[in-house]
Amino acid sequence: MNLSTEYLGLSLPHPLVAGASPLADDVDGVRRLEDAGAAAIVLRSLFEEQITREQLSEFDNLERHGDSFAEATSYFPTPDAFALGPFEYLNHLRRAKEAVRIPVIASLNGATPGGWIEYGRQMEQAGADALELNLYRISTNPDTTSADIERQAIETVREVKKAVSIPVAVKLSPFYSAFAHLARELDRAGADGLVLFNRFYQPDIDAEELTAVRTLHLSNSTELLLRLHWMAILSGRVRASLAVTGGVHTALDVVKATMAGAHVTQTVSALLIHGPGHLRTILADLAAWLEQHEWDSLSRMRGNMNLSKVPDPDAYERSNYMLMLRGWRT
Ligand SMILES: Cc1cc2nc3c(=O)[nH]c(=O)nc-3n(C[C@H](O)[C@H](O)[C@H](O)COP(=O)(O)O)c2cc1C
Repeated sequence: MNLSTEYLGLSLPHPLVAGASPLADDVDGVRRLEDAGAAAIVLRSLFEEQITREQLSEFDNLERHGDSFAEATSYFPTPDAFALGPFEYLNHLRRAKEAVRIPVIASLNGATPGGWIEYGRQMEQAGADALELNLYRISTNPDTTSADIERQAIETVREVKKAVSIPVAVKLSPFYSAFAHLARELDRAGADGLVLFNRFYQPDIDAEELTAVRTLHLSNSTELLLRLHWMAILSGRVRASLAVTGGVHTALDVVKATMAGAHVTQTVSALLIHGPGHLRTILADLAAWLEQHEWDSLSRMRGNMNLSKVPDPDAYERSNYMLMLRGWRT
């Protein structure tokens, strides 16, 4: 049974990657993920704000301009709110690389071009096999257009690509008005991989206390559907390799993601719920499923359900939508 795959130019024995999560925040956790069979590990993100803050404090700016920054900085989490500051992150990356043989992918999280991107180079020097760039952004300014946001995203990717020579994957949200166009432009800007999709921060409201409540619900397999849809649309249309993150809990989820076109599937919630050993279960179930269904390799099924051969995908999308609504019977 051949489960091997290529992702970001890395040859992996199978597509199960441990996505960015606290599970790899210490070296023991990194080892546990390798022992459980992860083909690669993505470390948690280092945030643009953490780096910028460090750069600011290096120049003593926060103190000198304390008054003007006071309000703005009060919104930022304090440095100790992060598990790893910029310096600790690079140290952890170095130690993680020494501890395991599988590829370790570092993660940078930011939204606009800037000096923080230089950290990509330091991550490369610390041994990262690849970078995952998480372009998390909620644009609340009505004067900012979708074109502005996409231009900045593309520029950010170009700058990261210029800063490093390791492969760069871009982790994206689905909330762009012309996602297929953006994906192609990121591909043209040199992104080596596209990771679909970020999950968004969705605060709840505590109606008694009149406060916004931070929530983080773990996913289930229903979240996979949005990823399958876009994977099927992009597969065969971009050069970049494709990763699914979000809703991968079972071997069948991996099969579906592969059929839609994914080169790898990243898992987080399932590992937080069941422990890293769940990777071993998914892997065994995956091999069993392929055998039962007489597939000799994953690569033969990759993209076999994508939409690249559909002559008019826009019309196809609308007709499926109409048929789905009309098919509802009370
Ligand atoms: C506790 C927690 C921490 C996370 N931290 C990061 C992070 O630092 N960077 C990142 O890109 N994604 C982060 N994620 C998102 C995951 O990598 C993943 O994309 C998301 O949870 C969807 O996958 P899942 O359905 O398998 O959980 C985090 C998720 C969780 C639950």
